[in-house]
Amino acid sequence: MSYKFTEEQLMIQSMVRDLARSEFAPKAMERDKTKEFPVDNLQKLGELGLMGMMVPPEYGGSGADTVSYVLALAEIAYACASTAVVMSVHNSIVCESIMRNGSEDQKQKYLKRMATGEIIGAFALTEPNAGSDPVRQTTKAVFDGNSYILNGTKRFTTTGKNAGLTIVTAKTDEEARHKGISAFLVEQGTPGLTVGPLEDKMGLRASDTADLIFEDCRIPAENRLGNEGDGFLIAMTGLDGGRIGIAAQSVGVAQAAFDAAVQYTREREQFGQSISKFQGLRWIVADMATEIEAARLMMLSAAEMKDHGENFTLQASMAKLFASEMVNRITAKAIQLHGGYGFTKEYPVERFYRDARVFTIYEGTSEIQRVVISNQIFKDKRNP
Ligand code: CAA
Repeated sequence: MSYKFTEEQLMIQSMVRDLARSEFAPKAMERDKTKEFPVDNLQKLGELGLMGMMVPPEYGGSGADTVSYVLALAEIAYACASTAVVMSVHNSIVCESIMRNGSEDQKQKYLKRMATGEIIGAFALTEPNAGSDPVRQTTKAVFDGNSYILNGTKRFTTTGKNAGLTIVTAKTDEEARHKGISAFLVEQGTPGLTVGPLEDKMGLRASDTADLIFEDCRIPAENRLGNEGDGFLIAMTGLDGGRIGIAAQSVGVAQAAFDAAVQYTREREQFGQSISKFQGLRWIVADMATEIEAARLMMLSAAEMKDHGENFTLQASMAKLFASEMVNRITAKAIQLHGGYGFTKEYPVERFYRDARVFTIYEGTSEIQRVVISNQIFKDKRNP
């Protein structure tokens, strides 16, 4: 690709590629079966500064830019998509939200430990009856003395069981619509917080996805993130960054499926020759490569806009929409190119297909991305 990377960006990409392909990839198939949480991988990422990639060095992070981050994340997703989603939510939503909205005490207390990977972050916005429409959430936080008392249930929380710290949103004012939502930093093991049964998922099986149940769960007032009423904005801004992360996960898994398909079509012989000689299949491969390249450039463009301090909401949603839809097409084609073998667990492409399925759903469905994109278009008065 013609994109001009810095030496540092290329160095990070190459370091993460070596690590992910040599250490994470060989264990990914087994993890998919056992659903074992990738603690070992995450520990390694922490040691290398990849769990606080965009956190400044004064808080123990690497101070890297978003372009380096998406390059790294795509490499992790190439090898183990379950590890990638944990890394993505932790870095792009949780660390970034604390960085942007946290008090100095919160940064000292939590961000430093998160940046080293000592504790992993989760983000609990979704509820059983409030997914695409988080303003309708019903979890309540009532101010009482020097604390808030939380009651309600959060659903589909990535890393809900294993996270040391979760950003939880809750209503502090019933009447105020999105301005009545606040965000709280909730530590693992806080009395009144119970982790529900883990979801038995189609893909990303080694990443835990859980309900979090709050029953008179008392959170110190100093653990409120931002001001009362800032919760929706914190969530939306966090998701803008998170959506670039999903684009990166999509690019990584698509590249893995593509490489596997190219290798297979080269080696597989039918009708007396390598099936890669058949034009019908070559054109499928050509289309796959083109789509991945387009998604990669969209991902990088959104990341670069974020690094330049520009408003990147539109580009993040476009990158997420295109890349997540793209990887679903690519993984399906990779299975097709493998023929019957692609449908078996002997080859990794069926796992790539299952892992990629949620990318058009979490952190805002494709339909929600289209809402965000069209809202941005019509909001911009420069558009005719
Ligand atoms: N940046 C800054 N401000 C934003 C914003 C953004 N990205 N998005 C919205 N806002 C602001 C609006 O400008 C508006 O501001 P005002 O106070 O001036 O009115 C306010 O927020 C309300 O916005 P809307 O009226 O557009 O809100 P809405 O209720 O119509 O919802 C939505 C908009 C885009 C549909 C939003 O609800 C949305 O993104 N929904 C999807 C939620 C989602 O992605 N959930 C996934 C959860 S996480 C997950 O998947 C699992 C995990 O573990 C990571």
